[in-house]
Amino acid sequence: MTQAGKHFLQIPGPTNVPDSVLRAISSPTIDHRGPEFSELTISVINGLKKVVKGPKSIPIIFPSSGTGAWEAALVNIVSEGEKILMFDTGQFSTLWKNMAEKLGFEVIYIQSDWRTGVDENKIAQTISDDKNHEIKAVCLVHNETSTGVTSKIPSTIKKIKSLNHPAIIMVDTISSLGSIDYSHDDWLVDVTIGGSQKGLMLPPGIAFNFVSEKAIEISKLNSFKKSYWDWNEMVLNNSNGFFPYTPSTNILFGLKEALILIDLEGLEKIFDRHKRHAKATRLAVKSWGIELLPINEDEYSNSLTSLLFNSGVNADYLRKIILEKFNTSLGTGLGKWAGKIIRIGHLGDFDDPMLLGTLSVVEMGLSLAEIEHTSGGVKSAMDYLEKN
Ligand SMILES: Cc1ncc(COP(=O)(O)O)c(C=O)c1O
Repeated sequence: MTQAGKHFLQIPGPTNVPDSVLRAISSPTIDHRGPEFSELTISVINGLKKVVKGPKSIPIIFPSSGTGAWEAALVNIVSEGEKILMFDTGQFSTLWKNMAEKLGFEVIYIQSDWRTGVDENKIAQTISDDKNHEIKAVCLVHNETSTGVTSKIPSTIKKIKSLNHPAIIMVDTISSLGSIDYSHDDWLVDVTIGGSQKGLMLPPGIAFNFVSEKAIEISKLNSFKKSYWDWNEMVLNNSNGFFPYTPSTNILFGLKEALILIDLEGLEKIFDRHKRHAKATRLAVKSWGIELLPINEDEYSNSLTSLLFNSGVNADYLRKIILEKFNTSLGTGLGKWAGKIIRIGHLGDFDDPMLLGTLSVVEMGLSLAEIEHTSGGVKSAMDYLEKN
């Protein structure tokens, strides 16, 4: 059924793509082996370094989804049978862990409750027990999109470093890059994994590894078989602005425009905008009397908010009503939270009217689905936005 007006896409990615980015993507495709393309590559690589706060990093752009960038990170660093340490923050850390096992790596997976972030003490304990330095890499998800929990990555890495363990540090920033403060260089990350379709305001289609010199050196010695994902082929070709295979030319046009938009608004202002929208969303949820899925206040995500319903409530029925009646898509529960939560995405190209529209349809949906709540959540968000 077609509906007048714009579809509201308030899932936690893919996010809304700004008109100027869409226009850039619709430009005529150019020769990916010509001089104009080489300039484009070099400019987006430099722009990406700013977004990840990684002037020393080497950005690598794959024509893939985020899952491809996970695989690239693993196969360049780890070899068959080697150990890696991962932490169970939710569905996405679990998918990454499953991939690592399929590739033949031995995963030490620290279990958790999918309501809290990485426990740095448990990580530190496992690392200090690893006297022979068998753990090749520690792989962490910065913002767990399936729960709306942001892990404290800087203090976790500090703890690992204080134990003088040489493990490579990999961090998935797929739903935090360009939305939540992150610093590849200052936090001493070796491999940052990112994707196009969330904070960067692009359609899905390209994904990133930002790589430290140490990671590049290890990748050169790593014997694990790879071809498409080989960093060194990429770095060699990228140095002249080219790729070892056909890149996603038009998405790169979009990336160039998105980087201009990010630069114009300013990265810190973008982080503040996300923080403000997340706070307004939580105030609405609190007024409704609905529980937030994340337990710890200092781990609340600024890019999405997950609402946990009482047993007996079918969260997907609420989403269905909101989609059918108000033409708005909200995020579904994933993995063990399927049917129990909804996720409101408030990241990317997003402003106050979009947030208030989203919260309004949730409040109306709660009434229509006859879910017990107190009205007035939207008003609480409005009051906060008005004053802050
Ligand atoms: C934190 C996180 N990691 C990894 C992925 C996987 O990325 P993709 O679906 O683009 O392969 C996602 C997707 O939403 C994600 O949110």
